[in-house]
Amino acid sequence: MARLTNWELPVNKETLNRIVQFLLDAKKSAEFMRLENGVIDVAEVFSLERLRELLANPLLTPEWLQLTLEGRILDLRQSVGFKVVQDKKLFFLDKDLLNQALAKRAAVVLEGLDLMDSALAYLVTNLEQTMPCSMSNCEAFFSRSGNEAYNGHRDSDDVLVIQIAGTKRWRVHQPQQRRYLNNAPLTDSMMGPIAGQFELNPGDIMFLKAGVPHKCTTVTDHSLHLSFDLIDRTLSIEQITKAANAHYNNATAEPHAPVSAVIDKYIDYLTSDRFKTEIEKASADQKREAALYRQKFTDASKMPNLNLKK
Ligand SMILES: [Fe+2]
Repeated sequence: MARLTNWELPVNKETLNRIVQFLLDAKKSAEFMRLENGVIDVAEVFSLERLRELLANPLLTPEWLQLTLEGRILDLRQSVGFKVVQDKKLFFLDKDLLNQALAKRAAVVLEGLDLMDSALAYLVTNLEQTMPCSMSNCEAFFSRSGNEAYNGHRDSDDVLVIQIAGTKRWRVHQPQQRRYLNNAPLTDSMMGPIAGQFELNPGDIMFLKAGVPHKCTTVTDHSLHLSFDLIDRTLSIEQITKAANAHYNNATAEPHAPVSAVIDKYIDYLTSDRFKTEIEKASADQKREAALYRQKFTDASKMPNLNLKK
């Protein structure tokens, strides 16, 4: 795929359209899971070699990575070093621990691919445009048979998955209430009844709704998939109640009013046209801000134009 140039489309148009259309169809349907086999040309999206290139970046910090070996997350903070150059500290990630763990078949999750890779940045921008207000993430999951990055869990947002290499078995359980807390780890009994089990192979694409418990197992020697967390950044309940609380504090119930009267006054404001207008404006502002930020993320991986004279 044409990469790292800023004057041409960084993703094959057909592949991009296929992924976006898959997401649109999946979101339109009432199904909690959708899977299409062998429809994505993975060479146009990502590869094991590209993962190696990105992992080789000395400027990675521990926050970009999760390294898991035999169920234990390894602490990469001890791998941060620096070199002093002209009184400045240049920090880098010593890859010794990472490489030793990889040699022992550790699993790696590499975050922030939509910042590091211009093609994935472009793809995520297009995925976000299908949603009211999203700030999505793209990460790579590299695992080995016997070493998984995550145990059973639920995701708090919808997820799109593209299998790049190897085979991964997914055990998917009946959908549960979407929530932000206590989504992981889940025991088998917390995950509830099994809805299905299937394998993802290179070129397969899957959509899984938020709140669906799942557990993955690497069937082949290794597996690599991309996961897109389609994070909903529409105003959160914290933002909405913060705005309502600010108003309430300027127009409170009478002293010693019964709690039911306090709640009634609060609800009156929450359901008022004035508040709805205010909150819709805040929502539109947030959407604009998210789009501006996405542009910054996309610019992060663009090749600079040196503007050289011919
Ligand atoms: Fe997940």
